[in-house]
Amino acid sequence: EKGTYPHYMLKEMDEQPGVVRKIIQEYSDANGELAIDASILKAIKAADRLYIIAAGTSYHAGLVGKQYFEKLAGIPVEVHISSEFGYNMPLLSEKPLFIFITQSGETADSRQVLVKVKELNYPTLTVTNVPGSTLSREADYTLLLHAGPEIAVASTKAYVAQVAVLAIAAYVAGQSNGKEVNVDLKQELAIVANGIQTIVDSKEELEQIAEDYLKIARNAFFIGRNLDFCVSVEGALKLKEISYIQAEGFAGGELKHGTIALIENGTPVFALATQEQVALNIRGNVKEVVARGANACIISMEGLNEEGDRLVIPKVHPLLTPLVSVIPLQLISYYAALHRRCDVDKPRNLAKSVTVE
Ligand code: M6R
Repeated sequence: EKGTYPHYMLKEMDEQPGVVRKIIQEYSDANGELAIDASILKAIKAADRLYIIAAGTSYHAGLVGKQYFEKLAGIPVEVHISSEFGYNMPLLSEKPLFIFITQSGETADSRQVLVKVKELNYPTLTVTNVPGSTLSREADYTLLLHAGPEIAVASTKAYVAQVAVLAIAAYVAGQSNGKEVNVDLKQELAIVANGIQTIVDSKEELEQIAEDYLKIARNAFFIGRNLDFCVSVEGALKLKEISYIQAEGFAGGELKHGTIALIENGTPVFALATQEQVALNIRGNVKEVVARGANACIISMEGLNEEGDRLVIPKVHPLLTPLVSVIPLQLISYYAALHRRCDVDKPRNLAKSVTVE
């Protein structure tokens, strides 16, 4: 039930700090240490390569998950769009593990890959919000998101839950392999939950940003580098699907290879700058678009912020920034859609579960 909320999407965005806290709790063992089911841990450790298969927002969560498994566990990962994988299967490693990320557990594009790889006798793991869903029942293993029902077509809290659960799975696998990572993930996730809370409590500011940058916009660009790039594509998808503003997410460095031709006076460009090692580069990209008339909105992080940044998110561990930087993009999209009187919870042409290929 959405209770006093005007939209499920708003309620679900507000639930995000609680979702992260619930995940920490659900994935802690009796000693209070982060843990996942022993059989799943074994399957991950037995794999020489992980193949993440997903669509839409879940695919975007997979892009972040790749970095977690590679950096926290030292396991190589490929991320594939499920609808493409079927007819363009890459050469597989010797011992692959297929990981399906799907909020609903019903996405036909992802299921057709599951059916295919099961025929080939490969092990399969579904990361889903819906216990008992088709992909959960048909895979060998399931990791649950514990986000509670997500009703709005635009996925918000499920993305955050997917990224958090992937971080935990990768971290636990790394710990068990004796990988030195020097991160107390449990504590860092608790800091993330507080950071998300600060942002969902800043709605007036985010509504103002939507008004300042998107009120009359025909199109918008989202740029970032490294993990900020993964979030840029999710920000663009959110804006497109609920406000119908044409939007693209870009790796900052790619702009000059073509897309910068589209920048004109007043074009909104949202630039994420939460990654220290590329902060200078992304700020350079912002200068390039501003010189061509763009209306740039820099979203940076405490400790890396500079004068003129429009929004500064609370400081979190550099690997976990996607969990926090995505929140303002969700809320900005929400308000942009409201300004245009769009049906936020049920955007045109879209369904919550896409059960056709
Ligand atoms: O249920 P799934 O996670 O498998 O759904 C995948 C996509 O259809 C879904 O993420 C879609 O892109 C959302 N509407 C995005 O907000």
